[in-house]
Amino acid sequence: MLHLSSRNRNSSTEEKEENQSQKPPLPGLLIKTFVDKGFVPPLKLICFITRYKFICPMELTEELADQFEKNGYFILQNFLPDDLLIAMRSEIEQLQQSKDFRKAGIGKESDFKIDDGQRGDFICWIDQQNPFPASARYIEEINSLIPQLNRSFFLGINNYECHYAVYPPGTFYKRHSDRHKKSSPRVVSMVFYLNENWQPEDGGQLRIYDQDKILAEVLPQAGTLVIFLSETEHEVMPTYRSRMSLTGWMRSE
Ligand code: OGA
Ligand code: MN
Repeated sequence: MLHLSSRNRNSSTEEKEENQSQKPPLPGLLIKTFVDKGFVPPLKLICFITRYKFICPMELTEELADQFEKNGYFILQNFLPDDLLIAMRSEIEQLQQSKDFRKAGIGKESDFKIDDGQRGDFICWIDQQNPFPASARYIEEINSLIPQLNRSFFLGINNYECHYAVYPPGTFYKRHSDRHKKSSPRVVSMVFYLNENWQPEDGGQLRIYDQDKILAEVLPQAGTLVIFLSETEHEVMPTYRSRMSLTGWMRSE
């Protein structure tokens, strides 16, 4: 069974106050200046200005924290704007031509093996000190979530790792947990999908389990971010289209 041992209910209010005092009123002012001069910026530009230049941090709202506490996962649709999605997709497509994209395996160090019966994806690790440009903007957003999760759930996260992943048609990742042993440093798993116009018949759903029950079935649709406790069992169903994502883990070590 999933567990989030405790929840600090005061944290989000404090956090909100803290965030608000950090937020400069600039985006609103900037947009108002444009509007006063008779120029209404396109909606996308407004989102870009407010989200990326000034307000930036993603907020773990009470509602999301409640979902995480209750179910051990939460899902955000349209997590990033289209321009960044396009940039990430073109980044992953370019990287696929490079030697950095490798067949993924299972197990660690001497236990490591490639097993197509278990997983069939190809991955490219992202260096956190020197990330590829589009992934860097995604990582910034994710990093803003870490202190919020720590404050709310005492998770002790102090590290993050991630890779791009591509599942060619016909591949899958059998049911597994990202935290094999209690000692594993992976605490929270997150998968961000990059696939335009995904249909249920394309397969490739992420299934999240609670023992014999399917808790959620998520389509790997561009812009969807799913966050779950790493100990939770989950599975990537066989995909019939090339399936691209950025998968990461928040760690305590
Ligand atoms: C993983 C994994 C899920 C997905 O890489 O460990 O479970 O939806 N990925 O890609
Ligand atoms: Mn996994």
